[in-house]
Amino acid sequence: MPESFFVLSKDNLEIAIDEIISIAKIYDRFAKVKVSSNLVIIQSKISWEWITKRATFVKVSGQILRKMSGLFLDEENFEILKNAKTFVCRIVNLSSNQFNIPELEKAMGDMIIKFSKAQVSLKNPDITIYLIFTDKENFFGFSKRFEVENRPKKIKKYPHELDWKLTRVMINLIGLKEGETVCDPFCGTGTTLLEAESMGIHAIGLDFDEKMYNISKENLDVNGYKSKIIKADFSQLTNMIDEFEGIVTDLPYGIASKSSENPEELMKKFVSILPKRKKIAIMCKKGFEKKLNINPIKKYEIYRHKSLTRTILIK
Ligand SMILES: C[S@@+](CC[C@H](N)C(=O)[O-])C[C@H]1O[C@@H](n2cnc3c(N)ncnc32)[C@H](O)[C@@H]1O
Repeated sequence: MPESFFVLSKDNLEIAIDEIISIAKIYDRFAKVKVSSNLVIIQSKISWEWITKRATFVKVSGQILRKMSGLFLDEENFEILKNAKTFVCRIVNLSSNQFNIPELEKAMGDMIIKFSKAQVSLKNPDITIYLIFTDKENFFGFSKRFEVENRPKKIKKYPHELDWKLTRVMINLIGLKEGETVCDPFCGTGTTLLEAESMGIHAIGLDFDEKMYNISKENLDVNGYKSKIIKADFSQLTNMIDEFEGIVTDLPYGIASKSSENPEELMKKFVSILPKRKKIAIMCKKGFEKKLNINPIKKYEIYRHKSLTRTILIK
């Protein structure tokens, strides 16, 4: 079974690791995972490209060729360069040792050129060969160039909108598959809907504010997206329980966003109508979750700036 590696951004590391694991388990519940600081290794039938395309915080990823015993690759490892015109060597040093990285990369490149017809290209090569150092083990790995999908456009913004990365990570953490449907009962500018559709997941959004409803609609239209948006109170979601598999939402706290009533009362009502057997990710301002009668299976804190730390609750 192939092993893939993912080097993650160290910001929000806990959530980044859980996201990778969650994506792998969506498609292969028998996937085996090893985590070492910001390196995640997954043994699974799911390819590294597939996981990387869905993930939010991956810096570098690829497939492991083999554990490294010396600086040299075996002849069979050069198979990956068979049809490649260009390649580059990259060192990823996650160990506590210091290396002269440019020198090592060049030495590896010089060695590979002797065995392969491919030429070194620093820009957009067909194949990238990695040498990954950790304090425990070192690996050779590689990745192929792949198309990065275009991000959805957002023509209308609003101060309370959520950034796409946190939205995407929430969708991934509740493990929705392509073809399933997510509901955002406080959809605002439609960030959840846009992100979900860009991942092949259907979406339904509710917002009681006509202005936000229109903004969401325009943002969807410009991308040719077909998510359903309803100008309605969040409580309407109880009438459409069979239409979605999960909820991803960012609560109105009454600061930048308009709230139909006192945010605390609104939240209590919201929690009381949450469907029991759905996957749920809720974002709120840190501290607010204590007022919610929710028993999350996981809680993350995302520091934004001095006066804003966000909390994500997974239920
Ligand atoms: C924090 S904003 C959501 C922002 C959204 N995630 C985005 O990226 O644009 C909360 C939204 O909840 C909406 N809202 C407030 N009270 C509501 C209610 N009772 N029912 C439905 N929507 C409500 C507000 O109009 C606001 O757009």
